[in-house]
Amino acid sequence: MPDETAATPATPPAPTLFTWEFAADPYPAYAWLREHSPVHRTTLPSGVDAWLVTRYADARQALADARLSKNRGHHSEGANAKNKVGIPGERGADLMTHLLNIDPPDHTRLRRLVSKAFTPRRIAEFAPRVQELTDRLIDGLQMDEAGAVKSEADLIHEFAFPLPIYTICDLLGVPPEDQDDFRDWAGMMIRHGGGPRGGVARSVKKMRAYLLELIHRKRADPGDDLISGLIKASDHGEHLSENEAAAMAFILLFAGFETTVNLIGNGVYTLLRHPEQRAQLQASIARGETDLLETAVEELLRYDGPVELATWRFATQSLTIGGQRIGEGEPVLVVLAAADRDPDRFDGPDTLDLARRDNQHVGYGHGIHYCLGAPLARLEAQSALATLLTRLPDLRLAADPDDLRWRGGLIMRGLRTLPVGFTPEA
Ligand code: HEM
Repeated sequence: MPDETAATPATPPAPTLFTWEFAADPYPAYAWLREHSPVHRTTLPSGVDAWLVTRYADARQALADARLSKNRGHHSEGANAKNKVGIPGERGADLMTHLLNIDPPDHTRLRRLVSKAFTPRRIAEFAPRVQELTDRLIDGLQMDEAGAVKSEADLIHEFAFPLPIYTICDLLGVPPEDQDDFRDWAGMMIRHGGGPRGGVARSVKKMRAYLLELIHRKRADPGDDLISGLIKASDHGEHLSENEAAAMAFILLFAGFETTVNLIGNGVYTLLRHPEQRAQLQASIARGETDLLETAVEELLRYDGPVELATWRFATQSLTIGGQRIGEGEPVLVVLAAADRDPDRFDGPDTLDLARRDNQHVGYGHGIHYCLGAPLARLEAQSALATLLTRLPDLRLAADPDDLRWRGGLIMRGLRTLPVGFTPEA
């Protein structure tokens, strides 16, 4: 008897999500989801059920859909599930009422207040400071604590990690003598993936106490920084409570920190694995051009960007995405990394093309929560890559790619370490 099942092409089995193998290379699993189950119900490692949206068109729709709320109060599992979606304990909870967790009209009011500080023109004023920091860190890569020359370093800890934390501290107005505390708290949060308990909760608590105290100090003695600007705005009739100001400072740190670490880390790793395109980029930078550097940073974001999944959204009513009905109260996670490899939107989506022009990726999100810090992220990434490739032109991977470990967090995608070798400058 003929075997009828053999004649129909079998659907490959569904991939297992959220394992270590998946973290090392999630893209084949995302390709399967896009093709076979584009709006996919899954149970996350935390035990929460959620819908994963993986196609580009569906992702854009979901990111801009006002029926999907950012307010965790809409979660159908109620208060019990709130810890699982990342509220780090009661004491830190105030800090969580920030831009990424609120809807209009509060979101509109708060975003308008802070957006003045993030115009491309304001951010461009930061370029010399970012360049100075970048250069100082590259000096540091080539010297050990005793002052001896070295030719190997961990690019994550010695470069990608400190650059954004010091940059954001400067932007906020955290005095230099306090910035190392921030570095420690942020380090704790990044190492433990923002989980709700233990050291992370303690770090959030310390950061909150510090931010509230800093707000008091800036009220008495304002400077030309973002926190002083927020206080001034609130003193001039704009409604901004002290907790909202602290939550704003917190989200700027939190959203602007690990993302940039991973943009630099994933970006350098990708370049080291594509020597021909890296050489072209290096030659273009040496000629003083900026075009290829600019498209390269966008392509690195699309190809292996730092934010794998956009943050939580909850259906305030039942709705349909990509033909799939989502029930009221159900959580939706938009998989930016999958949408940015969608062949219906990008030519050769799995191929790195640093010169790609038609590249409207969703690495910075879309809609009203579109990344506020995108101009700063671009500035930092362009400065970091251009300076690294210029000053350490023979930068190379000093580890077997199979030995590199990715962080296991849900939202972010980044390497734990990136060992590199180079010839130190004379
Ligand atoms: C929002 C990505 C850097 C501040 C977002 C979102 C994404 C994103 C995808 C939207 C999340 C969602 O809709 O759920 C990135 C990437 C960065 C980066 C890939 C690369 C390095 C920064 C920096 C800052 C920043 C440097 C600030 C210093 C913010 C803020 C929001 C946000 C405040 C919330 C905006 C809102 O809700 O209105 N970012 N980000 N980001 N980002 Fe970024």
